[in-house]
Amino acid sequence: MDVLVVDHPLAQTRLTAMRNADTDSGVFRAALHELTTMVVYEAARSFAVEQYPITTPVAPAQGTRLANPPLIVPVLRAGLGMADSALALLPESSMGFVGLARDEHTFEPRAYMESLPGDLSGQPVLVLDPMLATGGSLLHCCQLLADRGCTDVIVCCVLAAPEGIERLSRSGLPLRLVTAAIDQGLNEKAYIVPGLGDAGDRQFGGM
Ligand code: URA
Repeated sequence: MDVLVVDHPLAQTRLTAMRNADTDSGVFRAALHELTTMVVYEAARSFAVEQYPITTPVAPAQGTRLANPPLIVPVLRAGLGMADSALALLPESSMGFVGLARDEHTFEPRAYMESLPGDLSGQPVLVLDPMLATGGSLLHCCQLLADRGCTDVIVCCVLAAPEGIERLSRSGLPLRLVTAAIDQGLNEKAYIVPGLGDAGDRQFGGM
């Protein structure tokens, strides 16, 4: 699996704000919003473009547009905080949704919502989930996409654990990963260390 780490000073300052336990939820959401812009910007480097004729105020010219804008799929609930900024960068895109909850004992994903087109053949998909921890949820989501014929998935996150990267790599699914950092690993509760805590709770409060 291709892995791209967005090791940019501005990405690292936003990530630091998100990691800091003293950061309140408003500042956390703003940092996630800005960091998502950077991660999606880097993910979009590989997108195919096509030329089309336009006219500037001065002369005819060739314009550029995305040949095949990706479907954006935030994984609920934590991926919701990445959706706005991804769609702002990709206004031509549509959005699907996958709702996954983590079983607190097995740490395995449980789907409570799938809102996706039935046929995703030929359709690139950008999956948004801030945390790649065990990889269970993202694998589940990517399998749902593959089951609909998708052969081009870019997973955008802000933090990844080596265990999750390994699991996605071993799946054999057609995935690429863009992340702002790769952390040390997981603790016994499957939290990323040093991480940033629960990305859903940090954004929206605990339930
Ligand atoms: N999900 C989170 O929100 N945080 C982690 O550290 C791991 C999974």
